[in-house]
Amino acid sequence: MPGIVIVGTQWGDEGKGKVTDLLAERADAVVRFQGGNNAGHTIVRDGDEFKFHLIPSGILYPGKMCVIGNGVVIDPAVLIEELESLRRRGIDVGGLRVSANAHLIMPYHVMLDTAGEAKLGKLQIGTTKRGIGPCYADKAARLGIRVQDLLDAKILRKKIMAALEPKQQALRPFARDPRLDLHAMTEEYLRFGHRLEPHIADTAHLCWELLDSGRTVIFEGAQATMLDLDHGTYPFVTSSNPVAGAACVGAGVGPRDIDEVWGVAKAYATRVGAGPFPTELEDELGAHLRERGGERGTTTGRDRRTGWMDLVALRYAARLNGLTALSITKLDVLSGLDPLRVAVRYRSSQGAVLDEFPYHQSILHGAQPEYEELPGFEDDLGACRSESDLPPEARAYLRFLEDHLGVPIRLVGVGPGRDQVIWMGEAPALRAA
Ligand code: GDP
Ligand code: IMO
Ligand code: MG
Repeated sequence: MPGIVIVGTQWGDEGKGKVTDLLAERADAVVRFQGGNNAGHTIVRDGDEFKFHLIPSGILYPGKMCVIGNGVVIDPAVLIEELESLRRRGIDVGGLRVSANAHLIMPYHVMLDTAGEAKLGKLQIGTTKRGIGPCYADKAARLGIRVQDLLDAKILRKKIMAALEPKQQALRPFARDPRLDLHAMTEEYLRFGHRLEPHIADTAHLCWELLDSGRTVIFEGAQATMLDLDHGTYPFVTSSNPVAGAACVGAGVGPRDIDEVWGVAKAYATRVGAGPFPTELEDELGAHLRERGGERGTTTGRDRRTGWMDLVALRYAARLNGLTALSITKLDVLSGLDPLRVAVRYRSSQGAVLDEFPYHQSILHGAQPEYEELPGFEDDLGACRSESDLPPEARAYLRFLEDHLGVPIRLVGVGPGRDQVIWMGEAPALRAA
């Protein structure tokens, strides 16, 4: 199965990093295709924790090709720091390839992100303030600076000047900030270019070569479906398209190169930042899930909002992404709760039954979830390694999700460790060199 997309189906932090790490063992390359260092992907191996923001979650396999695709926005200072910290831990980062066409997050993008949020006041999105939105805005406005521009001082300087020009007014509060000095900025980014040069490549071409020779390529999504710029809960979304279809654009491959789409969902739901979250629990139960699930942001350290599994949103995600398989993570976190609740439909403020995720934001804001209750389980699941190790109530919970979604659950997470998983049926036989 050569091309596999791994995609978040909720509001992020579903455990995409862990699922990618597991599938990467049998793949030849792992490719990030959108987002930037707003992502935080955690892998726990033998008790050691790794948090990735830009580098694909396949890097822990020595020599495995890891690609930062053209659709990603790169803060080069963050990327270099991530490379350095991996090197310090003895990880071979020689397999990293960075698209020459990827756009760069510049110091003014970070400033504009912060200023934009401050201006919104109570209406703020709760962005990660990493400059993601302003960088994608410049890309669309054709004022972006790309990785390849780092290799030519004259072009770089000209492009920075052109990008700064229309931002004068918005950047006025930062006028004295030394990071905005044209000369210093150009010099700093040239240094970044020098450091990154050995990794810069025509990454679409690398993907084609692998796919054409029948090798397995994993496309690792960041953020998630409900944060998608087009299909998520706009305007409370990120500025890229995390849905599976974007893997083609953000890596430079065709739709026929994608053979499988694995959705990742927690056994409950979380969200960081503002915006609608129909099944949110703002009570003790929500606090319990946060505590037990360790629901604190990997990137910003913010507390995550928590709630019950939302099958209206998940059905929507299954359709939008064309999911062929599902990975349910953090099932262990639900132990001790009885009953378990799962939202199966919404009721509008007018009393209408909503089986489909509402496209109109006013309807979504007023939608109340309607739940089905399922029996809970007491046992600690951390040591379960096969479906038959799970208590019958946990199996029934999974079957309920599967029946509702019509997507087979292939992988279940029962703890953060890489061995704390259950393959449902056969583990996929991916072909790696
Ligand atoms: P990502 O952004 O989708 O890669 O997810 P994050 O890394 O931001 O958040 C997922 C968190 O849950 C991380 O701390 C993981 O170590 C942890 N995790 C992943 N799978 C499981 C699981 O099955 N059970 C538990 N208890 N933790 C898990
Ligand atoms: P991973 O890949 C969870 C959220 C932010 C905010 C909104 C917009 O770890 O799942 P942005 O900085 O992107 O402009 O913020 O999107 N957000 C995430 N939430 N996980 C993420 O990444 C996220 N990346 C962005 O909290 O609500
Ligand atoms: Mg995360």
